[in-house]
Amino acid sequence: MELVTLVYVSSASRSFKDSDIQDILRYARESNEKNGITGLLLFKDGNFMQVLEGDAQVIDDLHHKISNDPRHTGIITLLREPIQSRSFSEWKMGFKDIGTLTEEEKSGWSDYLEHPLNDPSYVSNPTKAYRLLETFKKTVR
Ligand SMILES: Cc1cc2nc3c(=O)[nH]c(=O)nc-3n(C[C@H](O)[C@H](O)[C@H](O)COP(=O)(O)O)c2cc1C
Repeated sequence: MELVTLVYVSSASRSFKDSDIQDILRYARESNEKNGITGLLLFKDGNFMQVLEGDAQVIDDLHHKISNDPRHTGIITLLREPIQSRSFSEWKMGFKDIGTLTEEEKSGWSDYLEHPLNDPSYVSNPTKAYRLLETFKKTVR
């Protein structure tokens, strides 16, 4: 099995409702568990950032499905590379709405949090996106 990590950003489409996040998570958690996919989904001000880890073929298939999902648009793949081991193995699919952090929770992360999740700086520096994801992996629900 070739293990890969894939990170993308996207924007929720106009028809997007709060309850849609719950629908996505409910589906994703069950399906990802079945398919050996781990990762983290961040949401902030209408934008998503997601990291997916798993078998290369499985991840590429899911990425294709996600890319065609009308619930979001403007999907930009920041990173897809082989990994030796998982970084997000504690959760099948964690979720964090980082738009709802308190000022105290935000302190120390301001450099990340003052930019939207689909900020162009992440395209030129995917490592920065990865660091953001790692920052929140311990705080997901
Ligand atoms: C932001 C976002 C993240 C998603 N993450 C996942 C995921 O981690 N796993 C998953 O199975 N589906 C995820 N989906 C749902 C897929 O796009 C798709 O609806 C699902 O895989 C079902 O596809 P199918 O009916 O063609 O099998 C996500 C959708 C969106 C909009």
